[in-house]
Amino acid sequence: MVKVVTYEELKENSTKKSLYVLIHGQVYDVTKFIDEHPGGDDVILAEAAKDATQAFEDVGHSDEARELLPGLLVGEFEKDGELKLASKSSSSGASVSDAVEQGSNLMYFVPLTLLGAYFAWRFYGA
Ligand code: HEM
Repeated sequence: MVKVVTYEELKENSTKKSLYVLIHGQVYDVTKFIDEHPGGDDVILAEAAKDATQAFEDVGHSDEARELLPGLLVGEFEKDGELKLASKSSSSGASVSDAVEQGSNLMYFVPLTLLGAYFAWRFYGA
């Protein structure tokens, strides 16, 4: 029987002390491996409690890297785990875009305020 790893377990193991990563629906325990990871520990830690598939694939990991995976396997990620992750990341995604939104509002706000101040000075000051 393949062990099923729940979303809660994935979240619980999201620190350097105990770290799981989710790649292609499979959960790997990288706690011992992380110090040996040629790409460094921070990139893997950044994928903790998330679906690391895209990050893993974007790097273009070699066949040797892929051959390490079975040795680190904990089990399969629970079926609706992806859904839980999706709803979690969409809310954090929203906060990222909120921040960007705020940034771009500020981008207009600052020059507009300066422009307003200039006209106030130009017409009322003179
Ligand atoms: C259990 C999962 C992982 C294993 C076994 C693994 C293994 C490896 C190995 C063996 C290399 C050396 C190059 C190669 O053979 O392709 C490597 C490089 C690298 N890995 Fe991973 N990796 C894992 C997860 C990740 C994750 C989640 C990221 C997140 C972005 C990542 C980012 C990188 C980067 C950026 C390099 C390039 C280092 C360089 O060329 O300077 N890896 N990885």
